[in-house]
Amino acid sequence: MIPKINAAITAVGGYVPEYRLTNSELEKLVDTNDEWIRTRTGIDERRILKGAGLGTSDMIVPAVQEILDKRKIKAEEIDCLIVGTVTPDTIFPSTANITCHKLGAVNAWGYDLAAACSGFLYALTTGAALIESGRYKKVVVAGADKMSSIVDYSDRTTCIIFGDGAGAVLLEPDTEGYGVLDSLLKSDGAGGHHLHMKAGGSIKPASIETVTNKEHFIYQEGQAVFKHAVKDMADVSYELLQRNQLTGDDIAWLVPHQANKRIIDATANRIGLPAEKVMLNIQRFGNTTAGTIPLCLWEWQDKLKKGDKLVLAAFGGGFTWGATLIKWAY
Ligand code: UT7
Repeated sequence: MIPKINAAITAVGGYVPEYRLTNSELEKLVDTNDEWIRTRTGIDERRILKGAGLGTSDMIVPAVQEILDKRKIKAEEIDCLIVGTVTPDTIFPSTANITCHKLGAVNAWGYDLAAACSGFLYALTTGAALIESGRYKKVVVAGADKMSSIVDYSDRTTCIIFGDGAGAVLLEPDTEGYGVLDSLLKSDGAGGHHLHMKAGGSIKPASIETVTNKEHFIYQEGQAVFKHAVKDMADVSYELLQRNQLTGDDIAWLVPHQANKRIIDATANRIGLPAEKVMLNIQRFGNTTAGTIPLCLWEWQDKLKKGDKLVLAAFGGGFTWGATLIKWAY
């Protein structure tokens, strides 16, 4: 019998820019305060990519380079790069395309995938399917966003939340039961108007009017999004465990999207995980959209043990949400 091929994560890389945008600095930009931001979101500071001409690909390149160095492989060996992002370098060519060129990944194809804060989970699931098919041996999945490029720093309801960053994982075939075991992904377009960018697409291309009206920034109705996020991210994580006959006791780590500490706590409670089993770096990086989950894996990788079961969970614009079950491979 031919053994089942799983997609195992065999290396993780990450990158956050140097510049720290603190709550006290935001107090100088908008009518807010450190106490409000900390208690409502859990965020102390976020990283911002400064410098003219730098985009999302400039954060993915060092993240992928770290993977190549760790696995001692060359960029030419990458078969495919999938980039979860809503802040691509350009509408086209894709950020995956640009990143491969910068890395010298001359044998890779790839594409961008837009699922907002669920971008990494959507990309991971599709990347895993490429490995499971048997056709590809080395697929890199990145989650990366330069959120500062679409944040209105005069809007106190959004500018306090978002930051810039990139994380990436290498997927390789495994036939011993490690890797991505299951994924439950969902979407509901009815929620789109609660969290979106009003212009810049084919419905409303950029014009002087759209720029004047600030329609190229993130628009978010925070409470409406919160209401869905806090329930849906918890429910999908629970459903994933149920259909795999698992409970919180079987899970070593929850790796949640970092949008709001209150949403993360609700998910952990729902699946019965104590705080010490929850990866949390929102206080230092804020919400990096598609970057949050791989950045957690990057920061926690030394604590992970072979065989650990992880639940990755996200909720974001679209609405999009989901959860992925992983058995750590190294
Ligand atoms: O990442 C993908 C998906 N996104 C999310 O999951 C985000 C979900 N939403 C949230 O995390 C929260 O809704 C926010 C953090 C965005 C906002 O927190 P909230 O507890 O829902 O606050 P709110 O919007 O209900 O506002 C409460 C009050 C309002 O004042 P009044 O009307 O009660 O007088 C706001 O005007 O807080 C005010 N407020 C602020 N005050 C100080 C809003 N933003 C700020 C601010 N500083 N930055």
